[in-house]
Amino acid sequence: MQSTHGEMINHRDSVLAHDISRIPLAFLPTPLEELHNLRQLLGDNCPRLLIKRDDQTGLATGGNKVRKLEYVVGDALTTGANTVITTGSAQSNHCRQTAATAAKYGLDCVLLLRGHEPEHINGNLLLDKLLGATIRWSGKPQHPTGEIDAMLHTIADELREEGKKPYIIPLGASNPIGTAGYINAIEEVYHQLQAMNTSIDRIIFLSGSGGTHVGMLIGAKLLGWDVRLEGIMNSGFETLPAKIVKLTHDTIEHYNFDINVTENDIHLLAAAGTHSYGVVTDLERNAIRKIAQSEGIIVDPVYTGRALGGLMQRIQSGEYSSDEAILFWHTGGTSGLFAKADDVLGN
Ligand SMILES: Cc1ncc(COP(=O)(O)O)c(C=O)c1O
Repeated sequence: MQSTHGEMINHRDSVLAHDISRIPLAFLPTPLEELHNLRQLLGDNCPRLLIKRDDQTGLATGGNKVRKLEYVVGDALTTGANTVITTGSAQSNHCRQTAATAAKYGLDCVLLLRGHEPEHINGNLLLDKLLGATIRWSGKPQHPTGEIDAMLHTIADELREEGKKPYIIPLGASNPIGTAGYINAIEEVYHQLQAMNTSIDRIIFLSGSGGTHVGMLIGAKLLGWDVRLEGIMNSGFETLPAKIVKLTHDTIEHYNFDINVTENDIHLLAAAGTHSYGVVTDLERNAIRKIAQSEGIIVDPVYTGRALGGLMQRIQSGEYSSDEAILFWHTGGTSGLFAKADDVLGN
């Protein structure tokens, strides 16, 4: 399959073992590093810490969605779509990465962002505009189940009437096609660890719309790798577990994988004392400063700072043994930091 750019690649990824359309977007493999200084800072009983740098996937400040969009926008191009539509919060990293992908592949991009246009345009929203996306505001900060999907379909119908060929990308690109990005990612890190002659016991990351988590879960099963995956939540505390179960089943069915993932494989945690989506507390502020000032690595207050804060909290409470090795998966979000300067500084 060839895109108009001649860049589409149909290929057989190893554990995926499926012919699926994928466009090259991410700088892969992303680096895998030791966090020696942070470990030292966290004290004697801190486990060995490594970090997977998916903040360095490259496209328009990077992040985890770039891996998923390689497959989802790859699929959109095979349908002949010329416009992609997706949704998220005003500071959605997923929307920014979708807008960048669309720009690179000559597609129009419509973003349905929750809420109203803010007075100050910054962070991801600034980049969405610079990347040429058309922005529609949903008018409400929260919507009942199904309402956003209905709005996406209305936008698609309007675009069809204008003669466009729209393709809807779900929230977070978390469907079986997007999940392929993290099935691959887990295989990537598996080989990196082998090359380093090292092993890890756990992977900790932020689980939001679930695709990253499910991809890792399925990828590890396909590899026969018994690594414990712990997703830290920042939203959907009641609904995410069922969403992950459903996406796991849908993905296994979609690719016809011969694996068995049970609810015992799914570990979802909330950092103690944390608040709902986007609320910044000392947990995130402390994590952001500690990793910045010990390693020169930037995490954001909504996603990766919440996950790192949760990890640090668990280390401090003696949840993990100092003999363990833990991989913190940095999923990006750097641009969102700039929209939260006051909260992060505690002003
Ligand atoms: C920076 C960052 N990390 C993690 C996630 C969560 O990934 P997923 O939606 O695949 O669970 C997101 C989702 O928007 C994100 O922007």
